[in-house]
Amino acid sequence: MEIVQPLPEPQIDLEFPLMKALEKRRTIRKWRDTPLSHQDISNLLWAACGITKQATGKSKSKRTAPSACNSQEVRVYLILKQGVFAYDEGEHKLIAKSSKDLRAFVGTQKMMQSAPLGLVFVADLSRMTARIFKNEEAQRFCAWVDTGYISQNVYLYCAAANLGTAALGWVNRDKLHQEMELLDHEKIVLTQVVGYLN
Ligand SMILES: Cc1cc2nc3c(=O)[nH]c(=O)nc-3n(C[C@H](O)[C@H](O)[C@H](O)COP(=O)(O)O)c2cc1C
Repeated sequence: MEIVQPLPEPQIDLEFPLMKALEKRRTIRKWRDTPLSHQDISNLLWAACGITKQATGKSKSKRTAPSACNSQEVRVYLILKQGVFAYDEGEHKLIAKSSKDLRAFVGTQKMMQSAPLGLVFVADLSRMTARIFKNEEAQRFCAWVDTGYISQNVYLYCAAANLGTAALGWVNRDKLHQEMELLDHEKIVLTQVVGYLN
């Protein structure tokens, strides 16, 4: 049975000037160890790749981040002290995957392991079915680019909401993949840590 964790509605009417967010965007490597509130998690995930246009009979939904052929192949996972959750952007809810605390695997640097929240961007290559994806290299190329947009959305939301964040490429992907019990076609591209500023 799927265990669902509801999220509060994202506060999409919050205002913050885009140019200021771009100016303030920064990689921060220090946080308070306070857990993020449910509201902040909701806003953060919606900013990352939430739905901005519902699917209609003819066309698929759209998200805050673009994706090649609108494949929407990048799934965001949350790594919290209380476990691993997948973000279901269609329903704006969390799906519990395990109760393991995997924060120690989000990044290889010691300081990253103290962050209250980790995001893992996982490309599900099986969702990339358009003809332009001739082989896995083509899928990977687009999935890696698509992840960059999501990560930047997280950076910009954090700048606006006064949160500290760092994208992490320095990750033991094989170990994290194994700990998260992902499938072969689910590839970890990048992780990102988030926390309240000191
Ligand atoms: C793809 C990618 C991977 C990164 N990996 C790491 C990392 O593993 N550890 C880290 O401390 N910073 C990492 N960073 C952050 C960069 O070091 C940082 O963006 C860069 O120094 C520029 O600083 P700024 O983001 O504040 O402009 C990464 C950034 C990107 C875009």
